[in-house]
Amino acid sequence: MNTPSLADLRASLPGLKLLTEAAELEHYGRDWTRRWTPAPLAIALPASAEEVQALVRWANAAGVAVVPSGGRTGLSGGAVAANGELVISLERMNRVLGFDAVDRTLTVQPGIALEAVHNAARGHGLIYPVDFGARGSCQIGGNIATNAGGIRVIRYGNTRNWIAGLKVVTGAGELLDLNRGLIKNATGYDLRHLFIGSEGTLGIVVEATLSLTDAPPPSQVLLFAVPHMDALMQVYATCRARLSLSAFEFFTDRALHHVAAHGAQRPFGEDSPYYVVTEFDAADEAAQAQALAVFEHCLEQGWVSDGVISQSEAQARSLWRLREGITESLAPHKPYKNDISVRISVVPAFLQAMQALLTREYPAFDVVWFGHIGDGNLHINIVKPAELDYPAFIAECERVTELMCEVLQQHGGSISAEHGIGLVKKPYLASARSAEEIALMRGIRAVLDPNGVMNPGKLF
Ligand code: FAD
Ligand code: MLT
Ligand code: ZN
Repeated sequence: MNTPSLADLRASLPGLKLLTEAAELEHYGRDWTRRWTPAPLAIALPASAEEVQALVRWANAAGVAVVPSGGRTGLSGGAVAANGELVISLERMNRVLGFDAVDRTLTVQPGIALEAVHNAARGHGLIYPVDFGARGSCQIGGNIATNAGGIRVIRYGNTRNWIAGLKVVTGAGELLDLNRGLIKNATGYDLRHLFIGSEGTLGIVVEATLSLTDAPPPSQVLLFAVPHMDALMQVYATCRARLSLSAFEFFTDRALHHVAAHGAQRPFGEDSPYYVVTEFDAADEAAQAQALAVFEHCLEQGWVSDGVISQSEAQARSLWRLREGITESLAPHKPYKNDISVRISVVPAFLQAMQALLTREYPAFDVVWFGHIGDGNLHINIVKPAELDYPAFIAECERVTELMCEVLQQHGGSISAEHGIGLVKKPYLASARSAEEIALMRGIRAVLDPNGVMNPGKLF
């Protein structure tokens, strides 16, 4: 890439909002990983799709790398700008553009926060069902670029399922209008899906048409204390068969330790090694009685040792905080994050193999397990011991990640379930995708971004 001239950029796009102060470069140059030192060239804040297109065309002409930037809640370093890149922040493009009651779609700009999408959908008596803890800060463009998952995947699937149309500016500076909200469209390759989960390496999302759905019936949240690992999936199978589930999540006593140290109330008098948070439709007394019967059955079987069912929305929220507060409670420790997945049927064997590996390799580390176990997705976070400096800690975690990849391969799993590859998992991509697949991905990238300006160094 060339040494670019900001004067040239200003002259080419006279109305563009551009930030260059040191504090701004630092703020926009990093994401939640906090691992790389931010060093962007400048921060561009376009106000329209046309301005994004002009920026990408300028970057191609000037030979400048660009980093698309959403809410920077990403956990894989995808939005990090540490090498003189031009950050293109979509935060000013944050409006709802339209709602269609017949199509049941909401058309939005990419910089709108996920929570604002939820509120807009609810305002029309419908829901946008993708949801997770970063909802207040992450943006729909970032969600699309990472194919974000979250806590409702068990019922609604990932972001990919809810994108009816997409406008993107490709790395070559073309503006594409993909699928236009059609439900049926059998006209060859569905290019929309290439951009979903592409981590800003193929182009920039400048508009999205989101499918909405009916609000679910009233629900209740059930928190179980689970005495041993083997019981987790027994509880899952029982809940899955007998309740109408919209979430099935788990965390360990170490996770609870960190959330409690961060201010959350411990839920039970006695501690337990594992906890499950599950949410289910509870429209009537019959559904509530069924949940009680499930709890009693699990208790009799010895799969759970205690439990609490929410009796109000406030109580449901406080039970959820135990699970959703984990990331924030760990953030000050800058943990090494793992975001791995296997098929649900493989989870029991995988849990055993992973526990054996981690107990052997991290005997003295604080290893914190939590995640979307109902989707086969585990977040295993490693907290740095005081005696290790940060680079030595990362080196040690990367050594163990190599071993984790072997276990994942034996179980047909993936090194990233929902956070993406970015910079953090780049060395391990080949453990989950074949050489042929990676070569095809490189080829696609070369077609859509021939000059390699889009988020270079990320993914591969
Ligand atoms: P950013 O971090 O800004 O960017 C992420 C990637 O998308 C980067 O590669 C960036 O270049 C690219 N990008 C951003 N905007 C665009 C655009 N308009 N066009 C093209 N590329 C773009 N993730 C989950 O999947 N499930 C969870 O349950 C979950 N929980 C979380 C909880 C917390 C507390 C936190 C902090 C994070 C969590 N995440 C979760 C991770 C993160 O929130 C998601 O990956 C989210 O989708 C990132 O959105 P963002 O707007 O912050 O994107
Ligand atoms: C979660 O499920 O809480 C998120 O993916 C965030 C994380 O892994 O820390
Ligand atoms: Zn997650």
